Amino acid sequence: MPLTDETLARAEELIARYPERRSALLPILFLLQAEDGYVSPAGVSQAAGLLGLTKAEVGAVATFYTMFRRRPVGRYVVSVCRTLSCQLRGSREIADALAERLGTPLGGTDESGMVTVEEVECLAACDGAPVMQVNTENYERLTTGQALGLVEALLRDEVPPPTFSAEGSVTEPSAAALHWRLAGLGEPPERLRGRRPEKAGPDQREQPGGEAQ
Ligand code: FES
Repeated sequence: MPLTDETLARAEELIARYPERRSALLPILFLLQAEDGYVSPAGVSQAAGLLGLTKAEVGAVATFYTMFRRRPVGRYVVSVCRTLSCQLRGSREIADALAERLGTPLGGTDESGMVTVEEVECLAACDGAPVMQVNTENYERLTTGQALGLVEALLRDEVPPPTFSAEGSVTEPSAAALHWRLAGLGEPPERLRGRRPEKAGPDQREQPGGEAQ
């Protein structure tokens, strides 16, 4: 089962916050995703058992919200905006180049399991087109070379400072740690963490990840 005895105890903490067990479904799905990298069939069964729901009820919620994944994702989820402003500024070329570099179709994960690449609709930062998001952080006005450079850094488990970062900070560098936080459990355990970036310098903000050679 995806949740071990230790994380089951944390799941009960979440459930106790609600008047009815079933109301804790969203946080429990985030917790499952933190542990497994996605909401697996085993996770759906476990959530149903924990919350007194049917598997169909859990599955209906897990498939309705796009933040819940039905396939495992890498430590870093790279989302390239494909909506008009970004597409006019070269996002399609960026997405294709990243998919080729990672050796996966869009929506897939590279062989090492580190980086997932996908296309998404508008990331609400159109003035920074073309925009790419890594987990929850935006990287804007990218050239294809800069986007490739950023992905090379992620493959080395390094997260360059996002475009508008306060002193290089990111919300949470690893997807698993981010989902742990979104479950409402606060500080993620060490085993789920990614590496935090160095403090941003002005040059880094201009050229996230640097140009690929
Ligand atoms: S069109 Fe890409 S961020 Fe809006």
